[in-house]
Amino acid sequence: MALYAMTGGATGIGGALRQQLTERGHQVISVDIKDGDIIADLSTAEGRQAAIDGIAERAPDGLDGFIACAGLPPVARPLSKIAQVNYFAVVATVEGVKDLVAKRRGSVLIVASNSAPMVSAETPFVEACLAGDEGAACAVVEEADGHTAYAGSKRAITQWMRRNTVAYAKAGVRLNAVAPGITQTPLTDQVFADEALGQTMRDFQASVPWGGMAKPEHIANVMRFLLSEEADFVCGSVYFVDGGSDAMLRSDQF
Ligand code: NAI
Repeated sequence: MALYAMTGGATGIGGALRQQLTERGHQVISVDIKDGDIIADLSTAEGRQAAIDGIAERAPDGLDGFIACAGLPPVARPLSKIAQVNYFAVVATVEGVKDLVAKRRGSVLIVASNSAPMVSAETPFVEACLAGDEGAACAVVEEADGHTAYAGSKRAITQWMRRNTVAYAKAGVRLNAVAPGITQTPLTDQVFADEALGQTMRDFQASVPWGGMAKPEHIANVMRFLLSEEADFVCGSVYFVDGGSDAMLRSDQF
């Protein structure tokens, strides 16, 4: 049986994955701001370090996988929190547990979003993230809107994943991302309830080719596969699990 560590295992997609893995006899170390084995606020440097130290203490012989799932929605404020949790905390925790995952030739899975391609790579916020400058990214994102902050953080983390795939593979770690579409979780509830973004989200949901909304289990099913030995040759991939929305919006790009 495998030993995994994850962030954001308390609710939503992460909660479904944690449940699926434990039901199958795997062990999961969950880091979250609430209801976790390790309680840590990943928006802060101290919280990230507490997460890394707590995982290392509980997994001295290494990890079969690490899942960076914690995330904040486009309606979170201040917008710099989105940068901190959705991008900088992911990079810091993935880097922090990389050697533990390499010990077992394991897998790191990043939870991105199908919104990532909706923001240009030339967006100053995306560039500041990829430059690794948290202060600059937090400053520049405060001038943006919620969509740019959220989708920009997801674009940046997806690009970071792709850029680091080779180095991680050579170190013995399979790096991949899942890009969910609209999924029924507490995060989505917050967006639906928002005056400015709620209608945009409802319109987007109505346009999903396969219809409706994903359940967290739909996303977790694919994540479980990507973490498993059955996905042993999947490396550097971005798996869209979005009912066909990305194919509809970017038919000629892949
Ligand atoms: P959720 O709100 O149910 O789960 C987010 C988790 O992150 C929660 O357990 C929460 O406590 C944790 N978290 C938030 N801030 C934190 C912090 N500062 N420190 C530690 N933990 C923190 O939302 P959902 O939808 O399950 O989101 C999971 C991931 O999926 C996120 O990265 C989100 O961006 C992504 N996603 C969600 C989509 C959706 O439609 N729900 C679509 C595309 C991506």
